[in-house]
Amino acid sequence: MKKPTTIEQPKGKLGVLLPGLGAVATTFIAGVEAVKKGIAKPIGSLTQMGSIRLGKRPENRVPMIKDFVELATLEDIVFGGWDIFEDNVYEAAIKAGVLEKELLNQIKPEIENIQPMKAVFDSQYVKKLHGTYLKEAPTKYDLAQLLVEDIQNFKKVNRLDRLVAIWCASTEVFLNLDPVHASLDLFEKALKENHPAIAPSMIYAYALISAGVPFANGAPNLTLDIPAMIEFAKQQNVPIAGKDFKTGQTLMKTLLAPGFKARMLGVSGWFSTNILGNRDGEVLDDPDSFKTKEVSKLGVLEHILQPNVYPDLYKGMFHKVRINYYPPRGDNKEGWDNIDIFGWLGYPMQIKVDFLCRDSILAAPIVLDLALFMDLSQRCKWRGIQEWLSFYFKTPMCAPELYPEHDLFIQLIKLKNTLRHLKGEELITHLGTEYYD
Ligand SMILES: NC(=O)c1ccc[n+]([C@@H]2O[C@H](COP(=O)([O-])OP(=O)(O)OC[C@H]3O[C@@H](n4cnc5c(N)ncnc54)[C@H](O)[C@@H]3O)[C@@H](O)[C@H]2O)c1
Repeated sequence: MKKPTTIEQPKGKLGVLLPGLGAVATTFIAGVEAVKKGIAKPIGSLTQMGSIRLGKRPENRVPMIKDFVELATLEDIVFGGWDIFEDNVYEAAIKAGVLEKELLNQIKPEIENIQPMKAVFDSQYVKKLHGTYLKEAPTKYDLAQLLVEDIQNFKKVNRLDRLVAIWCASTEVFLNLDPVHASLDLFEKALKENHPAIAPSMIYAYALISAGVPFANGAPNLTLDIPAMIEFAKQQNVPIAGKDFKTGQTLMKTLLAPGFKARMLGVSGWFSTNILGNRDGEVLDDPDSFKTKEVSKLGVLEHILQPNVYPDLYKGMFHKVRINYYPPRGDNKEGWDNIDIFGWLGYPMQIKVDFLCRDSILAAPIVLDLALFMDLSQRCKWRGIQEWLSFYFKTPMCAPELYPEHDLFIQLIKLKNTLRHLKGEELITHLGTEYYD
């Protein structure tokens, strides 16, 4: 058995900070409170419901993940966050319309006390929104300092031991890598000069990392995915992860595509369209914000199917993704996929998927798992990109010399093997030894 990694025990309270208290964040917070009260179950959360096999199959050791690794408990969590509107979490959850009022009323006292802090926001980066509850300061650097003050106050007032943060705010417009993102020095200079290549999400990232807070990005924004931020995270010994929660249609893609590839079935086209009517849908109705999302959604198939390795099966595959804002559906999205596949001798077939999903219901357990696992990373003294958490993201961050792993099943093996490694358990290779021992 290898030596286990030293893990600092999760004593005291864990603050979970959320930039953006909209549909996903309020569904997450309200859900955790409902679970704590015993009125609902944390379905979809690997940390709460998942188990992990250890050793050889006859050993029959399959503990729950939360009993196997030292995670903070739901009782330890204290929520906080920022938003561009002043609504408390109860009011915001009612407006988001994901959870029923009847459920929300049962946990009203717990969630109506959670008031957002004033946001760092600029409608140049989210064109469909016009915030009213905003910080003001002469430079982007000063705004970052105000966020650092918020973080320190939140920790002090709530007597917290540790903090983590998950970006749950709106998707910003598409930004390309800019020379000012190339190093921490250039980035800090640009912050002080109010450079347009620095989006609000980067100001949060800079503030959180400088305050030593692990930060995961749930949206497809560039945010952490720039050399300056990766350098800063390493320098500050802070774990970072991203980007874009893998829910809904992309989750389906990363379930189906590895299956086609495993059976050497060809794909000539994959057309995906969505209708959704929540605020996220409204923001994505702006072509610049949609572009950020589109790039994130399109990369998935290319990486899983590897057309360069399998040109006969996937070269020239036509992949298109559309998101249409359609208010009557609210948060209850409908995602259609038409998949043109081909088999033996090239004979064509079609698959249609119609997923009537609930976006925030799929995203909330991801926020919970990321909060608990990022805190674990911090207590293991891991820093920089946490690739083992790729399982949760549409566009997993990885070292610049690598390509991201998109296959959900490989991602799950990676996650669980990381936990086994952490605790000094044998990695599971699924190699049967009974034939040749
Ligand atoms: N729900 C999903 O399945 C899913 C999947 C992947 C990614 N996401 C991403 O998660 C994010 C949240 O989604 P949602 O459905 O909760 O959206 P939402 O519109 O309901 O919530 C976003 C919240 O962020 C606030 N906001 C915007 N800019 C801000 C800023 N700079 N600082 C603080 N607050 C700010 C908005 O006022 C809003 O309350 C979006 O970026 C979305 O693309 C969601």
